[in-house]
Amino acid sequence: RLGRMAESLSMRAYAVGGFVRDLLLGRTNLDLDIVIEGDGVAFMKAWEREGYRVSVHERFRTGMILFPGPRKVDVATARREFYEFPVAQPTVASDSLKHDLYRRDFTVNAMAIALGERDWGTLVDYFGGRRDLRRGFLKVLHNLSFVEDPTRVFRAVRLEQRLKLKMEENTVRLLTSCVRGGLLSLLSGLRVKSEVEILFHEALPLPAIRRLREFGAWEVLFPGLAVDSRTDRVVRRLTVFFRRLHRDLPPFEDSLWLVYLASLLFGSDEAVQRSVMDRLHLTPAERHVLSLSLFSLGAAENDLGGRGERRPSEICWALTGVPLAVCLFWAAATERQRIRRRLLLFLTRWHKVRPMLTGRDILDLGYRRGPLVGKILDALLTARLDGSVETREEEIQWVLD
Ligand code: CTP
Repeated sequence: RLGRMAESLSMRAYAVGGFVRDLLLGRTNLDLDIVIEGDGVAFMKAWEREGYRVSVHERFRTGMILFPGPRKVDVATARREFYEFPVAQPTVASDSLKHDLYRRDFTVNAMAIALGERDWGTLVDYFGGRRDLRRGFLKVLHNLSFVEDPTRVFRAVRLEQRLKLKMEENTVRLLTSCVRGGLLSLLSGLRVKSEVEILFHEALPLPAIRRLREFGAWEVLFPGLAVDSRTDRVVRRLTVFFRRLHRDLPPFEDSLWLVYLASLLFGSDEAVQRSVMDRLHLTPAERHVLSLSLFSLGAAENDLGGRGERRPSEICWALTGVPLAVCLFWAAATERQRIRRRLLLFLTRWHKVRPMLTGRDILDLGYRRGPLVGKILDALLTARLDGSVETREEEIQWVLD
């Protein structure tokens, strides 16, 4: 439909970038990027007239269309006046598309697939992306790729690890000089933050963290940072938790990357840790998670330790108000087995426990509105956590007693 719409406007549409790469690799990628040869803005407005939600950046001639699902399609324009371009022509090749693809980062990301009625599914591959993909090479499109955009250092490492590609020799050389030559350090804190966030959302961030260490990227980005065996150990534990407990762990979503960031900073001095937080312009909420993770581990170990058995409710009350992401970090960072086990039980089971009765039920049992209701609910929670009540009837009996 995208291709047909483009043709009805005398334009052409191509799927490009990561979508094409992942399609060739047989990997699912729900982010569809398309390039319109013609006028992307007019193309998006045509969808808008059909009732779809679009958001357009007139200045860059980019934007996105939201299809039901919801599925988002990002749209970019390969500039070319529409009258120059004969839709009927069967050949796919065209200068404007080539030019658009050439601005991209790696050969494997610089392929397109035609979406027109006649040429539907034709692969456009000017720079040998398919061959590199087949051989397992990650290769820059041209020697200025990292100079044009140093965030590509992160992208390179991410793609290399995720797709199990091997960075080609010249690409390694160019990446290294981008890092050592100081270009990487010129990136703004917000751009670094956004790349680090994406990196730490990868399924297995440890190899990428290590690879960036090999290139000296962490040290350049965050002077004084000690990414050492402590980081490895904590990240490895996190991986084990996710592998073994993923069904029972809560969804950490937006805070998960902070757990990895805390792991990265774990072995460094407090001054360095604080300067990284500043450099990344963390929000107060993000800072809170990170500071608690790094600076309160010792206190948490004191609260949660103890040789004998501790009742589940004691652990839960000790962790009241602590973000779950912080508990996860502490579970991975502590060297004390017993504390790790308690934190993991909290994360996988106890933190979800609630009494079956509600405040309303307590009032119905004859109590007056006021702080006592809250206290009864807390005491009920304690009883439930420690196994003194199981059914609703037992809870009612417990309150009446
Ligand atoms: N791109 C680029 N340089 C960048 C960012 C993006 O050349 N610094 C190009 C690449 O061709 C990439 C496309 O823009 O394929 C889309 O970018 P994005 O959606 O961020 O990346 P994907 O390749 O789709 O990767 P991912 O699977 O990690 O989202």
